[in-house]
Amino acid sequence: MPTTLITGGTVVSSTGRTSADILIDGERIVALLEPGSTVLGANLAETADTVIDATGKYVVPGGIDAHTHMSMPFGGTTASDDFETGTRAAAWGGTTTIIDFAVQKFGERLQDSLATWHKMAEGQCAIDYSFHQIVGDVNNASLQALRELPNEGITSYKLFMAYPGVFYSDDAQILRAMQTGAETGLMTMMHAENGPAIDVLVSQLLEQGKTDPYYHGIARAWQLEEEATHRAIMLADLTGAPLYVVHVSAKQAVAQLAAARDRGRNVFGETCPQYLYLSLEDQLGAPGFEGAKWVCSTPLRAKEDHHQDHMWQALRTNDIQMVATDHCPFCMKGQKDMGIGDFSKIPNGIGSVEHRMDLMYQGVADGKITLERWVEITSTTPARMFGLYGRKGVLAPGADADVVIYDPSGHTSIGLNKTHHMNMDHSAWEGYEIDGHVDTVISRGKVVIDDGKYLGRKGDGRFVRRDPCQYLI
Ligand code: URP
Ligand code: ZN
Ligand code: ZN
Repeated sequence: MPTTLITGGTVVSSTGRTSADILIDGERIVALLEPGSTVLGANLAETADTVIDATGKYVVPGGIDAHTHMSMPFGGTTASDDFETGTRAAAWGGTTTIIDFAVQKFGERLQDSLATWHKMAEGQCAIDYSFHQIVGDVNNASLQALRELPNEGITSYKLFMAYPGVFYSDDAQILRAMQTGAETGLMTMMHAENGPAIDVLVSQLLEQGKTDPYYHGIARAWQLEEEATHRAIMLADLTGAPLYVVHVSAKQAVAQLAAARDRGRNVFGETCPQYLYLSLEDQLGAPGFEGAKWVCSTPLRAKEDHHQDHMWQALRTNDIQMVATDHCPFCMKGQKDMGIGDFSKIPNGIGSVEHRMDLMYQGVADGKITLERWVEITSTTPARMFGLYGRKGVLAPGADADVVIYDPSGHTSIGLNKTHHMNMDHSAWEGYEIDGHVDTVISRGKVVIDDGKYLGRKGDGRFVRRDPCQYLI
């Protein structure tokens, strides 16, 4: 197997940093060595097939984005990135594993939906991938199929308290699914917003002629995120199901998660870059129909209420455990524009899979989180949360050689002149400047990004079977 030596870099983990060389043999890391080490008298820098000089740079485990929706059918259209374009863009941004969602529609057999998603992804991905299972129709057959998921290498499933008539589950269905999830050792993931109440507000706003994208954020009030988060926590409490709440945006929802964790419950929260940087006023409230670019659920929150500051704080205190993107891109032309004159018809979703590592590194540059916390929330915790740790999320002997070399003295201008690689006709992050740069990305031992060049190949990414959650208390 060809060997690669990464020399001279600062290797950063979730718990510290050290000067070390990394030796890769084929697809795996075989050793972390004192810089300049010799093995049996041989200087490794002279004997390795490839030597990568990482002097002055950080060497970190490849990013894991645990919440993406490639080719997701949603809002009367389909997310514009497929597994080929989406995983290529992810690689550009230093993400080497995604966990996407197999979508069971109402009336469909759960097993069939999983088979469909395997077919869509197989042979298409540039980086490794796995699936969570969306359960869009909780019934006896679905619950039985849930019990089989661990045999398929899938250890998490997702329910929606939002989107009545689409993916929505009522409390009785949630209770039954959680009972099954708890018995089966699955992580229950929850989109926590009170969908029926949102629908009432949507109708009332539209009747009043309030049709602009801004009103998407008004209809999806924080009270309805807090209430649903609390309800999900209580149902999880009752059933003993571990609970992972996706795309948390409201500070009041964070408080519910923190309170449950203080009671010793296995309750976790994910946030996304958009809830750390963007707001109801500045983005959703942009002039004309422009705000449609940022229509996503949960929605962007009011900066006058300081949700964004609270979210950074929650990342520091571990009240929120990790950052994923909820990458669900739609173009303005032909997709988002379906909602001109009716915000409820704008397909929900933002594309960020390419920018998560950079956007979160900016938190390090701005002094909001430490370098180690950056690694933890973007790679190590996602690996532990979803049963990948050991193979992914860590630079250690035996782990997959998924490595990012990050240059803290580099610079990244996001989105300018459509320089991103996502299949979108705009960027939700246009104009963001990052004080750092993804230099080199290695996916299972193969260099896929080399200083601005893409060397990856569709089909090199493999489906990764996952163990149960490794983060439980
Ligand atoms: O706006 C979003 N989040 N779109 C994707 C579907 C979901 O709710 O995760
Ligand atoms: Zn959701
Ligand atoms: Zn999502």
